[in-house]
Amino acid sequence: MNKFLTSFNSKDLPSVKTDILIIGSGVAGLSAAIQAAKYGKVTIITKDKLSENNTQKAQGGIAVALSENDSSEKHIEDTLRVGCGLCNEKTVRIVVEEGPVRIKELIQWGTEFDKQGARLSFTQEAGHSIRRVIHAKGDATGAELERALIAKVRQSANIKILEYAFVIDLLHKDGACFGTVVNIKNGNVGAIRESPKKIVYARKVILATGGIGQVYRETTNSTVATGCGMALAYRAGAKLIDMEFVQFHPTTLYVAGLSRTLISEAVRGEGGVLRNKHGERFMFEYHKDGELAPRDVMSRSILKEMRETADTRVYLDLTHLSYKLIENRFPNIMEVCSSFGIDIKKDFIPVRPTAHYMIGGIKIDKNGKTNIQNLYACGETASSGVHGANRLASNSLLEGLVFGYRAGQSAGKDIDCGKRFDRTSDISNVLDSAGARKLDIGDLKASLKSLMTRYVGIERDERSLLAAQKEINFWSSYVMGKEFSDIRDWEFQNMLLVAGLVQKAALIRKESIGVHYRTDYPEQNGKEWQKRHIELSDI
Ligand code: SIN
Repeated sequence: MNKFLTSFNSKDLPSVKTDILIIGSGVAGLSAAIQAAKYGKVTIITKDKLSENNTQKAQGGIAVALSENDSSEKHIEDTLRVGCGLCNEKTVRIVVEEGPVRIKELIQWGTEFDKQGARLSFTQEAGHSIRRVIHAKGDATGAELERALIAKVRQSANIKILEYAFVIDLLHKDGACFGTVVNIKNGNVGAIRESPKKIVYARKVILATGGIGQVYRETTNSTVATGCGMALAYRAGAKLIDMEFVQFHPTTLYVAGLSRTLISEAVRGEGGVLRNKHGERFMFEYHKDGELAPRDVMSRSILKEMRETADTRVYLDLTHLSYKLIENRFPNIMEVCSSFGIDIKKDFIPVRPTAHYMIGGIKIDKNGKTNIQNLYACGETASSGVHGANRLASNSLLEGLVFGYRAGQSAGKDIDCGKRFDRTSDISNVLDSAGARKLDIGDLKASLKSLMTRYVGIERDERSLLAAQKEINFWSSYVMGKEFSDIRDWEFQNMLLVAGLVQKAALIRKESIGVHYRTDYPEQNGKEWQKRHIELSDI
């Protein structure tokens, strides 16, 4: 596999230097930046505007053991149980035990979580044995988190922000990373304004680029969630792990022709129920916890119900809940639905499962370090083993906070600002000079999304996975290793690479566990697979 997406010679391109380069601006990237800035100059690069990411869209909240009746042990137990025995207990402990400190810090920085009187208000979500999920502005938790973190980042003179800049490649050689090759759309990086392709040299690089939802036809994710960080790391020789575990969210607003919008699990936590097109409540036929069954069970049950009723959706019924509760807790969901003519006080909300959260990703240790020297990762793009085979609802923002903090601290402490920048002589790459054929990338993207949804989605089997492999290999044969010059094209190359890794891992794991459901191996094969993780790398 070609180790770079673009032709370049580092000595010929204009360059800038930063101590720590952070790619991505969700909860993990911003948390990392705040910490790293205590030790050196930080640059945050993001391919869109600063607040365009999955954190911004998060609704339900943050799971944290802060209520009177809760404890770290209970939170750990719930996380391990939902993770189906594949969690890394050490990292679960780190996230759960350090989580409360990180939340208190956020509150000090001005984050306004919802309260009941003087105390934090906790909601219920699936898999939690207790009301443990804190939230903000009803159902706008992510947006409030992002607001507070951006404000904190902007206060630091040590942090520079570069928006609308696309990282094409990591600058890497012999298992070490020295910076990135960046395409700067708006040319807003001071001295190197004129040229679109630049080198950003960095002593440490932290990837915090989020998930891969856009690889699927329908997703709750931001348009930036294209798996670019995972692809960058993989090309540089990083290990990726647990790529078969893609979590689908059971309830996404489904109105044909309109973009999908998450309908938070908290809606079911507060009493919302699911009905099929005949108005029948069905979840208790599938699981004793009804609408609060684990997400993988929910998604498969909804799929089955849709098939059996020959419908494209099921329906979320809130009509029995008090108007005051709905108005206070879900003002944004109410507004979105109302903009489509759905009055959630009297109408059912049409919903279906869509791709939501990538459990797998770049393998990291407890400090966010990858197997590549100078390269760190945190948040959804990384895999610390916290989520096992099925993520407990609302554990991801907490993981982003804790591992963002750890990666920022660790990268910061490891830099030696007195040392000259290591430019490692020259790094260069030459691609097929014939260049890429004129391709309709929009069409290819739509085809890939469709393929992944049909063949590598909520349910997979050997036949579907092999069919996906055949198509991905065919498209790769004329898309990979060719010189493109547009962000959309590079992004597609990354999506294709990541899709292939999900497909490959899903084919290898011949059992069903958590969110990975193989219809040809419907049981969990404890003996052979328990505690075994699938690692993929190109070294
Ligand atoms: C939700 O609000 O349902 C999403 C929470 C999560 O995915 O953790």
